[in-house]
Amino acid sequence: MHDLTLEKRFAPAPQSKPRWRRGVNRLVARLPLPRRRAAAATKRVDLPPTLVFRQLFDPVSSTYTYLLADADKREALLIDPVIERSEQYVRLVEELGLELVVAVDTHLHADHVTALGRLRTATGCATAMGEMTRSECVSQTFADSEHLRVGDLRLQAMYTPGHTDDSYSFVMPDRVFTGDTLLIRGTGRTDFQNGDPAAQYDSLFDGLLHLPGDTLVYPAHDYNGMTVSTIDEEIRFNPRLQVSSKAAYVDMMNALDLDDPRLIDVAVPANRACGEGSGQ
Ligand SMILES: [Fe+2]
Repeated sequence: MHDLTLEKRFAPAPQSKPRWRRGVNRLVARLPLPRRRAAAATKRVDLPPTLVFRQLFDPVSSTYTYLLADADKREALLIDPVIERSEQYVRLVEELGLELVVAVDTHLHADHVTALGRLRTATGCATAMGEMTRSECVSQTFADSEHLRVGDLRLQAMYTPGHTDDSYSFVMPDRVFTGDTLLIRGTGRTDFQNGDPAAQYDSLFDGLLHLPGDTLVYPAHDYNGMTVSTIDEEIRFNPRLQVSSKAAYVDMMNALDLDDPRLIDVAVPANRACGEGSGQ
C-alpha cells in the first residue's frame, strides 16, 4: 500500500534515486503549489478485496472503456463507454451478476459517441461528468477532489484540463484513469474544445506525475497496442514529457498540426446530449 503523506511524497529525492527521477523532481519542484496540493490531497484508501475490473476496447475509435465493480455490493461503474458497444456492456454486467449504477465520461469526446444516454435508458443508471462539462443531459456532476462511490469503491476525481477544459482523471489506490490527458507514450491533443497546452502541462507536471511512481496508468485510448503503463514508466519514456519547461511543452503541442478527428462534427453535438439522437 502506498504511503501518500505529503511529507513523504514531496520529500527531497534521495541521492540513490535514478538520474531520470531526480530530474523530474527538480522539474516539478519549480511548479506552483495549488495543483501539488490537489495531488497530495488525493488520499488513498485500500482497494476492496473484491474489486472487479475489466478493460474493454473499441477498435473503431481505439477507445478503452473500464468496468469497475464492488463484487460484494454487486454495484458497477463504467468509464468512457462507446455507444456501439452498449449491448456488450449491458450483457457483461448481467453475466457478472452486477448492477450498473453509474456511467461516467472523463470528458466530452470528439472521436466517438458516448453510451451514457443509451446505458441510462437500458439500465436506469446515473450518468456523470465533471462540473465543467457542456453536456446537457448528465444526471450528476462532480468537482475536483470529490469521490465517485460505487459500493465500497471510491474514485477520486482530479481536474486535469488541457486536452479539453472538462477533462478529469479518476484516482484509485493503485491506479489512475487518465482520459486523454496522459496517454501511454503520449498526451492528448490540445487544439480544440478549449484545449490549452499550458493547462495540460500543469495537469501533468503539477498533478498526475505527482502520483506514486508505481501507480498504474489506464488511458482512454491507445493506438499502438499498449494497454497499461505506470507513472514512472511515462516519466521515463513518454516523449511528450521530456521537456525542460512549460513554454517548451506549449511550443511542442502547438506545432503538432493534426487533422481533426473524423467524427468530430457528429460526436461533439451528440455527446452534449449523452449520445442520444446520434442516429447510431
Ligand atoms: Fe478526447
